[in-house]
Amino acid sequence: MNKESPIGLFDSGIGGLTVLQQIMKALPRENTIYLGDTARSPYGTKSVETVLRYSFENADFLIEKGVKLVVVACNTSTAVALDALKENLPVPVVGVIEPGARGALKKTRNKRIGVIGTEATIQSGAYTRAVKTLDPDVEVYSRACPLFVPLVEEGWLDNEVVEMTVESYLASLKRSGLDTLILGCTHYPLLKKAIGRFLGKGVRLVDSAQETAKEVLRVLKERSLEREKGRGSASFFVTDVPDSFIKVGRRFLGDKVDSAVRIER
Ligand code: DGL
Repeated sequence: MNKESPIGLFDSGIGGLTVLQQIMKALPRENTIYLGDTARSPYGTKSVETVLRYSFENADFLIEKGVKLVVVACNTSTAVALDALKENLPVPVVGVIEPGARGALKKTRNKRIGVIGTEATIQSGAYTRAVKTLDPDVEVYSRACPLFVPLVEEGWLDNEVVEMTVESYLASLKRSGLDTLILGCTHYPLLKKAIGRFLGKGVRLVDSAQETAKEVLRVLKERSLEREKGRGSASFFVTDVPDSFIKVGRRFLGDKVDSAVRIER
């Protein structure tokens, strides 16, 4: 493992490509390996035990590939497995929750922060803990929005159904007077427009993906692991047939997702 080694990312499926996109922007020299566990997605509705097991299997695959750092691009995996992965992996591990919490604290003025995510992420309380550890005076309002993931995967990003779903999930959060909302799921940045319109200009949206890329940069710098020359490339691995990953992946990353290798599970 050295400066030339790739950065590894894993997600339950395609959503983590929003994190990869930000890493490619912030660290254009780095090579990346992305594993999407498409055969077993979604994680957001599964038990802690199952998500933990899947997360370790994904991380082990990346370690075998010789990565210098693992990014847990999935919010659900981060919520459930980050601490255990940090303890057990031989390389630094970066999750998406603490960077998202930090980003929200930088933005809030009235110290009322909302968090939305999958059922498993919200139930874990991981975002609330992360925010409160950094600033105990902040009020955190959270809400699981399970229908957002299938909407995004269907390519429905801004239509009447999205508007109604956004309204019914977020109406009570809006009433709480929050001024900042953490988009605590890989898919939600794609719904920014509809969410932003419903909550109004006074509410800032925090994209965990952007904040995570900054954290990856910081960790690589701290350990002198930044790649110094060249232009990075990305390779993709999936656990189901690659066709729909490539098709939906293009919605996230454009034609950078041109092929993916299926691995056996
Ligand atoms: N990647 C998941 C997350 O960020 C969303 C999709 C799923 O439920 O697996 O929580």
